Amino acid sequence: MTTANSSLIKIVLIDDNPGNLELLVAALGRQELEIFTAEDPEEGLDLVFTHHPQIVLTDLVMPKLSGMEVLERIVEFDPAIEVILMTAHYSTETAVEAIKKGASDYWNKPVSIAMVRKKVDQLVEEARRRSIAQNLQSQLLEVSEFEGIIGNSPQMWDLFSRIRRVAPHYRTTLVTGHTGSGKDLVASALHRLSPVSQGNFVVLNCSAVVETLFESELFGHVKGSFTGATTDKIGLFEHAHKGTLFLDEIGDMPMSTQAKLLRCIQNQEVQRLGSLTARKVDVHIIAATNRDLRKCMDEKTFREDLYYRLSMVEITTPDLAEREGDLPLLERHFLRKFTALYGKKVRGLTRRAELILLRHNWPGNVRELENVIGYASMMVMGEMIDVGDLPTYLTAGAAAHSILVSAACVAPESEEMLPLEEQEKLLLMQALDKAVGNQSLAARMLKISRDTLRYRMKKHNLT
Ligand SMILES: Nc1ncnc2c1ncn2[C@@H]1O[C@H](COP(=O)(O)OP(=O)(O)O)[C@@H](O)[C@H]1O
Ligand SMILES: [Mg+2]
Repeated sequence: MTTANSSLIKIVLIDDNPGNLELLVAALGRQELEIFTAEDPEEGLDLVFTHHPQIVLTDLVMPKLSGMEVLERIVEFDPAIEVILMTAHYSTETAVEAIKKGASDYWNKPVSIAMVRKKVDQLVEEARRRSIAQNLQSQLLEVSEFEGIIGNSPQMWDLFSRIRRVAPHYRTTLVTGHTGSGKDLVASALHRLSPVSQGNFVVLNCSAVVETLFESELFGHVKGSFTGATTDKIGLFEHAHKGTLFLDEIGDMPMSTQAKLLRCIQNQEVQRLGSLTARKVDVHIIAATNRDLRKCMDEKTFREDLYYRLSMVEITTPDLAEREGDLPLLERHFLRKFTALYGKKVRGLTRRAELILLRHNWPGNVRELENVIGYASMMVMGEMIDVGDLPTYLTAGAAAHSILVSAACVAPESEEMLPLEEQEKLLLMQALDKAVGNQSLAARMLKISRDTLRYRMKKHNLT
């Protein structure tokens, strides 16, 4: 019997002794399982690769291929498959080795029917719950999006409701929050839901402007107003007329410009540099910053009057680490994005990989998570992202180590900790090196498309 969203659980049994296979089939026959058996380990592996079972029971000592090798091949294929080894020659040493290699259990032969039933029941139950949870997560993702912003935590519901309430009415808003927490997304959502959504959305990143050009950027200038002003120029304020001006990183705006900005906002008019006439403008202002503007005011780098004007309506984006429930949603969201981008089929993350992400504190917030999933999606060979596909800076720490040990998987080789970007660059260089500069070959080795490779190479200035 199958239901709409829980298909039959598949199990592969491998044992060179037909009597043992019969016993296992007899033990499991009554359950809602699709059972495949093989006396030959290589045939058994073929069954695993073609039917993709959730559970595999394999004998340890067999001719041709040992159970340990079977285990290795299966873990390589899909680390999410539960592999159980059975042996008449039990030793703690091999048991530990098997568990370290990713086996989920290690049984001493002869096995009793009752024990097999009980343990397989548990695994089946777990596999069912996981598949239901995965379906629910997918459905949850569909309903957890607001104007391109993903979230289903109380903090995010609060954020969505603030945006919805503020958007129709604000003239100026301040968006605060730590880096990577979604301030840009909030700004564009505010614009799209505002009465001026048909107008321009003009962005000025204040940290990227040369101080001397700030005012001419914002307010424009007339020809000859300063050296280099060879023509008249319209400023961003005028570009944003009947639309929105987004001043990103406003904490980096020079004090003198802040004064002019405030005047502009208050009077709703701009004066181009070198011009005596003021022009009326109708502009919505969104300012964003990851700085503590109160501290900037204490340090006299931010004007109080401008702060109070801007912060009449303040919206704060919460840190990712404060909203754990959103992590799986965002993982899934970015997984979809990147696997589509790289043309890969990835079902999800293994539990131990998920645990590592869960225990990380995400100082770079959603942007950091996006980078991590992007990196893992590029690295992964199989259908599941596992610990080895994550950047080493996540897996080299003590917390990660304890997870690895408790999950009893192989600890990663002690590699030096490198930032994500550096690791990516290193990988690219290694692949290009191995491929003697042949890009198609390097792309194949990395399991990415040539376009992706080229894009990444360009990003890292590799030729
Ligand atoms: N809640 C979210 N849902 C989906 N993507 C998000 C979310 N928050 C941030 N992102 C993504 O993370 C990255 C960083 O977000 P951004 O808005 O630029 O952060 P900030 O401006 O606060 O530094 C962007 O790629 C953005 O699309
Ligand atoms: Mg930003």
